[in-house]
Amino acid sequence: MPADALKQAVARAAVDYIAPKLDRHDIVGVGTGSTAGFFIDYLAQIKGHFDGTVASSEATATRLQSHGIPVYDLNSVDDVVVYVDGADETNPRLELIKGGGAALTREKIIAAVAREFICIADAGKWVDCLGSFPLPVEVIPMARSHVARELVKLGGDPVYRQGCETDNGNVILDVHNMRITDPRALETAINQITGVVTNGLFAHRPADLLLLGTEAGVEQIA
Ligand code: 5RP
Repeated sequence: MPADALKQAVARAAVDYIAPKLDRHDIVGVGTGSTAGFFIDYLAQIKGHFDGTVASSEATATRLQSHGIPVYDLNSVDDVVVYVDGADETNPRLELIKGGGAALTREKIIAAVAREFICIADAGKWVDCLGSFPLPVEVIPMARSHVARELVKLGGDPVYRQGCETDNGNVILDVHNMRITDPRALETAINQITGVVTNGLFAHRPADLLLLGTEAGVEQIA
């Protein structure tokens, strides 16, 4: 089955999962990427069932608004009942690598606020050990070379993502060749480097539920 069909299946499953729980006052957090894009399209079918959304990127906000779904500033909402987003990799502990779409910082902020974090991913994202996908790190532009040198000391091969400016006006270093055996420790260590905004490891705040699209159907893993 093509990856897009699996992405659509998990996006549909996420809407089916959250729909019965939603109240008309609720705010839904929405992630970024192609899987999240399918989720937005299905979410539009139940848009009367909740108040509105907070978006993890400008692209997501635009897509939500194109469906007539309200998008709020995170600072203006008290509570996010659920956050739904894709991932670049997930391990069996539901620790993730995210940021392939350069939205990692806003994604991490909404995941931190949300009561429940649901990850939607096709089976190609499932790994035993994180790190085959290069780990994105969002960096303040003037600190790029310094951060790159520090990432080399941690054992990685950072590569500047050419032509990419994040929604926050920063740059991305993609760290190759890291076999991440202790995701929580590495997440902390990278975030200690001066000039790093955040990195794409979601280990201290992993997903609560994974909807994994496989050839046999959508698996729920918690
Ligand atoms: C964006 C992300 C995405 O969730 C991740 O890149 C997965 O994208 P896709 O659903 O297109 O495979 O972290 O920053």
